Amino acid sequence: MQKAKTVLDFHKMKAEGEKITVLTSYDFPLTGLIDGAGIDMILVGDSVGVVVAGHDNTLPVTMEDMIYHTRAVMRARPKAFVVADMPFLSYQTDLKSARLNAGLLVKDGGAAAVKIEGGVNVAETIAAITAMDIPVMAHIGLTPQSLHRMGGYKVQGKGDAQAEKLIEDARAVEAAGAFAVVLEGIPMGLAQRITEELTIPTIGIGAGPHCDGQVLVIHDILGLCSKYSPKFVKRYAELAPIIGEAVANYIADVKGGAFPEERHCFK
Ligand code: KIV
Repeated sequence: MQKAKTVLDFHKMKAEGEKITVLTSYDFPLTGLIDGAGIDMILVGDSVGVVVAGHDNTLPVTMEDMIYHTRAVMRARPKAFVVADMPFLSYQTDLKSARLNAGLLVKDGGAAAVKIEGGVNVAETIAAITAMDIPVMAHIGLTPQSLHRMGGYKVQGKGDAQAEKLIEDARAVEAAGAFAVVLEGIPMGLAQRITEELTIPTIGIGAGPHCDGQVLVIHDILGLCSKYSPKFVKRYAELAPIIGEAVANYIADVKGGAFPEERHCFK
């Protein structure tokens, strides 16, 4: 039987050059499938606000949303290591509420770790949460909760000054005690430099092949969101038309009297 993953596995995987696989998940059935396929880590991302709840961005996501979805994921009893995202406003205002909210994602949600966006600016918060023995995954580069500061979802770390700033962010989150760091939307050469310098694993999304692991949003790789597919996404299935066809067949069967058949009925 597959052993449950812990933070120790990820440091070993980096040391041994084994890539770390991460996908988002937000519910019970998909978690069972993703975990059964052997994923290393599951991120209950605040991307749930966009791909499940239909918001334009992740800013409206609440602690209640994150606890609800983390609980649903944990009911699948995954062997993968489960990290819950801290939503906007759950860690930015003060250390006391950051500690409390991180604790709630572990105590009420059942997650093993939390993720927060930011570098130097959240180093103190990362240190405060890790001091409670809650592992923290940092997230630097294109941080979706900073959408309005960035002026959109733009590649970060271009040019020497921005690259230096990102390297400082990476050093700061490692020094603060993060067990891993997501590098999102940055040039691949910069991601390679950060990955080589840090002792903690880097998990890339739109950050090239040199990161210690990769993360993608499950709805993106399954082709469930038909609207827009970012350049860094590889679609491994096209489920949207399959679902559309199944539902159209059901509608046609009910309207035409072909469903239910005798075998679907009780006597
Ligand atoms: O919310 C999320 O899904 C994320 C990943 C895309 C890294 O933060």
